[in-house]
Amino acid sequence: MCGIVGYVGERDALPIILQSLKRIEYRGYDSAGVACITDNGIEVYKDKGKVDDVIEKITNSKSISANSGIGHCRWATHGAPSKTNAHPHLDGEGEIAVVHNGIIENYLSLKEELLSQGCTFVSETDTEVIPHLINRGLKNSVNVEWELKEAVKEALSRLTGSYAIIVAAKGFDGLVAARKESPLIIGVGDRENFIASDVPAVLEQTTRVIYLDEGDLAVVKNDSVYIENGGAEVTRAERLIPWTIEDAEKGGYEHFMLKEIHEEPKAITDTLRGYVTGDEITLGIDLGIEGDTKVKSILMLACGTSYYAALCGKHIIETLAKVPVQLELASEFNYSDFVLDGANVVAMAITQSGETADTLMALKKAKRYGCKTVAITNVVGSSATRIADEAIYTGAGPEIGVAATKSFVAQLVIFYLLGLQKPLVAKLPDAAFLEYLEELRRMPQIARLVLDEANGDIQKHARYLSKYDHAFFVGRGVNLPIAMEGALKLKEISYIHAEGYAAGELKHGPFALLTEDTPVVAILTHQASQNIYEKMLGNVKEIKARGAPVIAIAEEGDEEVEKYVDAVIRVPRTGAIFSPIPNTVALHLLAYWTAKERGGCEIDKPRNLAKSVTVE
Ligand code: F6R
Repeated sequence: MCGIVGYVGERDALPIILQSLKRIEYRGYDSAGVACITDNGIEVYKDKGKVDDVIEKITNSKSISANSGIGHCRWATHGAPSKTNAHPHLDGEGEIAVVHNGIIENYLSLKEELLSQGCTFVSETDTEVIPHLINRGLKNSVNVEWELKEAVKEALSRLTGSYAIIVAAKGFDGLVAARKESPLIIGVGDRENFIASDVPAVLEQTTRVIYLDEGDLAVVKNDSVYIENGGAEVTRAERLIPWTIEDAEKGGYEHFMLKEIHEEPKAITDTLRGYVTGDEITLGIDLGIEGDTKVKSILMLACGTSYYAALCGKHIIETLAKVPVQLELASEFNYSDFVLDGANVVAMAITQSGETADTLMALKKAKRYGCKTVAITNVVGSSATRIADEAIYTGAGPEIGVAATKSFVAQLVIFYLLGLQKPLVAKLPDAAFLEYLEELRRMPQIARLVLDEANGDIQKHARYLSKYDHAFFVGRGVNLPIAMEGALKLKEISYIHAEGYAAGELKHGPFALLTEDTPVVAILTHQASQNIYEKMLGNVKEIKARGAPVIAIAEEGDEEVEKYVDAVIRVPRTGAIFSPIPNTVALHLLAYWTAKERGGCEIDKPRNLAKSVTVE
């Protein structure tokens, strides 16, 4: 997500803050900003664009003399990238400046309350409520430091959601920082201290780092760091960071792809966070549904990995909401003589970048047909969101690895939410709805279990898979698209030729290719109908009879499967329609470790590929 930094010391704050921001640029962002505490009060410089542009603006205007300040790289979530939405945000009186990483879920009700008390807001962000709330808590006492700390605590007690914040205040020569569900560290220096969301931001200045714990609040001055949690002072150990800056950018993982696979549980949590409150799902878009009479069908348009997510989404929505979904490859849809009565169709473009040329063209074509259009994307303000009538955002955060991983999982979450969205599932009994929602809420934990418990076995099987030049991935039903995704990921990053195939289709041709040199990865987790599992077992027996080795993805406790396959990757059992989540995590890991084992693969930047494909 966003990156935040802060400095307090005896040196010029501005160049240090800008340098720290440049160190976290690799995460991806759309705007940047700084606030410095000067003799004239709080001076803010921010804009849409890169840190370098902000630097240019500042150096072109005047030199700023300040020994403390805060900075921010924004990845838009509430409100498009713009100067007003960029951080830092101020209270109306210019007393308080805040940078924030995370999502404030109840900001709308807080904003209403603050508006009714006469506060004025300039941005569309969730963050802007924080400086206003802090300002409300200031009482003009003589102990500025104590008063600010208490006002921050009081403000934070009103927030639901996640945050890492740094607060600067006029007349105070330190900074206050706090975290909940978002990382925050303090870099310890000599008569100076640094605060940041990410270790790379401070590494050029110091390798002495304190990791703040969940719920910590810190008052950081040039010669002291005071931390409290739940109202009582606490001590947090200082650690020496042995990483190079490059290691630190990857959070200690060898590749961004591996880091991003490990962020899949968080991508699920953050995507759910935006849309689920209690037992309510609110996607915040108008699908033009009145009763359940208006939307007759959904048309999905996508490319590549997003197409496989959409194919899975088709199964999910059709199963849960019983609304028919048609799916088209955007690159094909653009050149087909498709006949479409747009009046009753919602067209959805699924694109993590929001910039894929084919998908944008398809979206425009659907609009011309008169469809209501929705962009499902990871990038606020991207071209897709500007073309579509409505946008639904995945909460995956910036993805650096060219091969999509956490953004794919976040797209799946949106399909579960769409499938369970009340107007669409008018016919689903409440008890069933609640059961599905409960299972959906378990998905971050399920994904984490795969990372924690299956990773070792997956590495072992990857060593085996890496010796082959061809592989098949097979599945049925809701897991056929996951088999296709597994094959795509493997071919992209390991350069092994892999095909994702419907298990029942192998006998109609590809059987001719099966030998002891074509391993088959078969997804054998259960689905709503027991029949599919039985059919998959039948297909596995057919494959084995042709001499091909089989690696199964199967649930914990499924002993039957052992009899028929050569190796098993175990994933936790889920409610049937949810197995794509653990299966995806397992297959992403399998692709990663196989490529790593092959050696010579540029995993984060596979040859000939780009993160956004902006040509047709
Ligand atoms: C594969 C991958 C690509 C993209 C495709 C569409 O790992 O990332 O196949 O899925 O280029 O990109 P978006 O989703 O940005 O439209």
